[in-house]
Amino acid sequence: MIKDALNAKEISALLENRFSVEVFDKIDSTNLYMKKNFADFSHGGAVIADFQESGRGRYKRKFYSPAGCGIYMSVLLRLDLPPEASVLITAAAAVAVCEAIEAFSDKRLEIKWVNDILYNSKKLCGILAESAIDPKSGKIERAVVGIGINAYEPDGGFDSEIAQIAGFVFEERQTGLRNRVCAEIISRLQLYSSELSKKSFLNEYKRRSAVLGKSITVLSEGSYSEAVAIDIDDSCRLLVEYPDKTREYLNSGEISVRL
Ligand code: BTN
Repeated sequence: MIKDALNAKEISALLENRFSVEVFDKIDSTNLYMKKNFADFSHGGAVIADFQESGRGRYKRKFYSPAGCGIYMSVLLRLDLPPEASVLITAAAAVAVCEAIEAFSDKRLEIKWVNDILYNSKKLCGILAESAIDPKSGKIERAVVGIGINAYEPDGGFDSEIAQIAGFVFEERQTGLRNRVCAEIISRLQLYSSELSKKSFLNEYKRRSAVLGKSITVLSEGSYSEAVAIDIDDSCRLLVEYPDKTREYLNSGEISVRL
């Protein structure tokens, strides 16, 4: 079987700015590592692992990270942004990941607000951006953007519970493919993050939305409500309308799309 090994030198060589890249065969979590070691990385630096023992998603959920088939990466962004911009970091990363994957695949990807990337309603990638606020300025001074992609189907397939919600990007293994996807993501993320206040990626984010115009279920403070997703505004808030016609902007939180 083609191994498609991850390699830091190969990834760096594909990057114009030669950002620092570290690759591990095994790690607890690339986000945890980057949060501890951010001082050793410049803007755009990345840590990537073939396998995560304690990969984490939003709401501290476990992120299944088997060896040899995924891309588990955390990119450091050094920023100077108001705290409300944190959701824009996730949105920029989602667009960067979709475009990077599509550079190597015919699949047309959609984004489920706010941080999931889908193909045929199956999740191929999740994003967990964690921001650090400078206590003096009150601004976001850095963010660790964690990206977990199911690049290939794991040996023996996903277990039945995960298979209902998860898909994978590439049917055929190719030497160097994961390195090329990593480099493409880092380059695009660096570009979009330098333009966060211009929000150049937001139209593309909306165009790729898997939720706009759809009936959704909103989970808020432990209770579920039916709604329709109406719009995504300039701050990447989701405007929803409830059956009694009242409308609400959601800043973050969890929704599911009703099929
Ligand atoms: C989600 O689906 O809720 C977000 C998943 C984010 C997973 C990535 S994998 C690389 C990085 N390290 C982690 O522990 N989590 C993120």
